[in-house]
Amino acid sequence: MGTPLIPLRDERCDLVAKLEFCNPAGSSKDRSALWILEKAIDRGDIAHGTTVVESSSGNFALALAFYCRMLGIPFVPVIDPNCNEATEAQLQLLCERVERVSIRDTTGGYLESRLSRVQDVLVEPGSVYWPNQYANPDAREAHYRFTGAELLAQAGRLDYLFVGVGTGGTIAGLSHRIKETHPGCVVVAVDAEGSVIFGGPPKKRRIPGIGSSIVPPLCGQALIDRVEIVSETRTAEACGVLAAEYGLYAGGSTGSVYAAVQDFFARHRPGPRRPRVAFIAADRGQAYAGTVYDPMWLRQLDAEAAQRPGVENLAVK
Ligand SMILES: Cc1ncc(COP(=O)(O)O)c(C=O)c1O
Repeated sequence: MGTPLIPLRDERCDLVAKLEFCNPAGSSKDRSALWILEKAIDRGDIAHGTTVVESSSGNFALALAFYCRMLGIPFVPVIDPNCNEATEAQLQLLCERVERVSIRDTTGGYLESRLSRVQDVLVEPGSVYWPNQYANPDAREAHYRFTGAELLAQAGRLDYLFVGVGTGGTIAGLSHRIKETHPGCVVVAVDAEGSVIFGGPPKKRRIPGIGSSIVPPLCGQALIDRVEIVSETRTAEACGVLAAEYGLYAGGSTGSVYAAVQDFFARHRPGPRRPRVAFIAADRGQAYAGTVYDPMWLRQLDAEAAQRPGVENLAVK
């Protein structure tokens, strides 16, 4: 496995994007899904006849569905109504059983409902394994060993690394690997407005992958120097720029991370040496055609913001 690192023209820095959406199942979650399964098999947590169950409405479910099929392991994704139609169709095709929760939990989102359904599946007869992507150290290790090692070999010197945060596995693994070789590299965590990971007030979020309604344990293991919080409007603008300027049809979190790079260097003028900056492009844009790439969706976002300035908590994850 290996994903390309491509240069992007930029006025202020030598900017490179690591295209994690070139992984076989389409996102950075390939790294953690395959490594978590391999390690669980090695430990004996997954044996012949074991079913894997996981709460995910997005990339982690798609990655597990792909690798479980390849390894002959039954997989039950637990999804919710925020699951993209195309993603759900793919999961229905690759998995014999898909569990779909529909009742909002106490926070107004579906995370607790999904986790409770995972617990129900775990106590069913037979052997069931739950990767628990929010707390599994193998997720961090996958990015340390694979994404991080590759990035180091491809990038040479690195002054800044921008990474979107959901479960924190990517930034935890990458930050440790990169700082071992480039201790001065500034690691910037990129989060969504309305996510509580870095202590901000909860608010409705619509872009999956980035942000969380809980503080994920893996995040505490990351070496983070700075945090950039990006609004959904800025995310959509940045996705448009990536497509128009570079032909990159990238997912929402990639737009957030690219927006963070631009906003950061607009505020922090680099010194005489052009900084070398990398960011992670976690997934492709197809699943976001009806959101960040849809002008109607953006108009609705603006209208909602004008109508309801109060705090909400209808998180997607
Ligand atoms: C599109 C996308 N970007 C970023 C992330 C964040 O990665 P992590 O969960 O390792 O923090 C995810 C995680 O699901 C994702 O799906």
